[in-house]
Amino acid sequence: MSFYVTTPIYYVNAAPHLGHAYTSIACDVLARHARAAGEDTFFLTGTDEHGEPVVLAAERDGISPRELVDTNSERFRALSDLLELSNDFFIRTTDAGHITRVQAILQRVHDSGHVYRGTYEGWYCPRCADFKSESEIGPENTCPIHHIPLRWESEENWFFRLSTFQEPLERLFDERPDFVLPRHAYNEARSFLAQGLQDVSLSRAKLSWGVPVPWEPDHVFYVWFDALLNYVTALGYAREGEDLTARFWPATFHVIGKDILKFHTIYWPALLMAAELAVPRHVFVHGFLLSPHDGELEKMSKSRGNVLDPFAIIEEFGPDALRHYLFREVTFGADGPVSLEGFRSRYDTELANEYGNLASRTLNMLERYCEGRVAAVALDSELAGDFAGLGARVDELLARAELSAALEEIWQRVRRLNRYVEERAPWQLAKQPERAAELERVLASLAEGLRLVTVLLHPFLPGKSVELLDALGRPELGAREFAGEGWGGPVSAIAPLFPK
Ligand code: MSP
Repeated sequence: MSFYVTTPIYYVNAAPHLGHAYTSIACDVLARHARAAGEDTFFLTGTDEHGEPVVLAAERDGISPRELVDTNSERFRALSDLLELSNDFFIRTTDAGHITRVQAILQRVHDSGHVYRGTYEGWYCPRCADFKSESEIGPENTCPIHHIPLRWESEENWFFRLSTFQEPLERLFDERPDFVLPRHAYNEARSFLAQGLQDVSLSRAKLSWGVPVPWEPDHVFYVWFDALLNYVTALGYAREGEDLTARFWPATFHVIGKDILKFHTIYWPALLMAAELAVPRHVFVHGFLLSPHDGELEKMSKSRGNVLDPFAIIEEFGPDALRHYLFREVTFGADGPVSLEGFRSRYDTELANEYGNLASRTLNMLERYCEGRVAAVALDSELAGDFAGLGARVDELLARAELSAALEEIWQRVRRLNRYVEERAPWQLAKQPERAAELERVLASLAEGLRLVTVLLHPFLPGKSVELLDALGRPELGAREFAGEGWGGPVSAIAPLFPK
């Protein structure tokens, strides 16, 4: 089976911050895990470059929208590189390949009668690029997300008949309780649906920075429809001369933050149904990274100014440490605070002490007591028992995108190995020549445990895991069980994985 995972495409009117990195890393973990499991995998990320906020930002900077998107899209691409994302393509919604495909799909939706012309009136947030319903309006007509005044807008639009998808969507949610994960997000989508769907704007007349509506060239498509379609259009032109749609559609996971739940769990499946395309298998909705703002913990965002810069953290500590921190610190799916102090503390206690030290000690002891080799002897069955079923458990959790739970399972075994070292005290065994066989067995078992946790950590720590597996002389990522016997090969020394 194929595996296709996507990030939201990010708005280019603001610089990338840790919140964007968070979703991207999560998708990368899922993609790397699927590849290691031998699945035919495609991982997509990119930038959302149309819409009014881009025009406003360009005006402010005294440049053209085109210049703005070219410069800022590059920053997101640079972040992807720095995070060592394994994405297979980076889509930009200003790509010609995207634009023509959006037009073709929406023309089809038009021709099947899912659209009509009408007048739109309502409170509009330019930053959300969204009209707000009664229940979504903050105090004094402000946007509850961006805390800026909403505008009363009235214009001639094309509308998408979202309301006609009420029943098909209800059926989708009934038949597929894992369509939206985790459960609380599914419930939120359902309760939105239960309020009754209203038709939504499909085009905008007052804007020119967008994809032109083929049957009404003075209009551009409402930016959300243009943006959502990226998940499908990319497959059409990511590989020159090849259409990957049949191979990868429908997506396995769209991973998104909870701010864009409505678009992905309601609008998107309805639009796909209208276009006669299959709906994705899962939308996974994660929570917000929080950070102090005016003395309160709030969503990290540019408008609040409480952002952490992923570039600075990576420069000092490397991408793996950041990847580890985010999913240890905040349960994936829930909100949680992050900070530089929290980062440093986890770096020291978990990466440097628990994991890095375990690796150094194991390699050193093999060097000193076993001539730098892992003995081909029967391994400790008690330790093996503590690892039984671990790979399958991690697979099961990651199949539901439960990244923090998967990492916790693995980390319990890192701790188990540290206890094993203390319990068996190889340095004591080494003083007793009659226990040489036991010493060999303990160290070979430890090496196997370290190899296995490292294979399972690979999606989370792509750089350091490879370094360590190479040092162990076992680079392959496919061996995901605790072996019955030591592998009988040489190991080599490495510099501390996570220096203090
Ligand atoms: N362009 C739209 C998405 C279109 S997808 C078809 C958009 N872009 S965005 O730049 O605002 O990025 C939103 C995404 O960034 C969120 O859904 C989330 O994945 C991520 N995050 C931004 N801030 C975040 C936090 N403070 N915490 C966690 N994730 C955050 O919306």
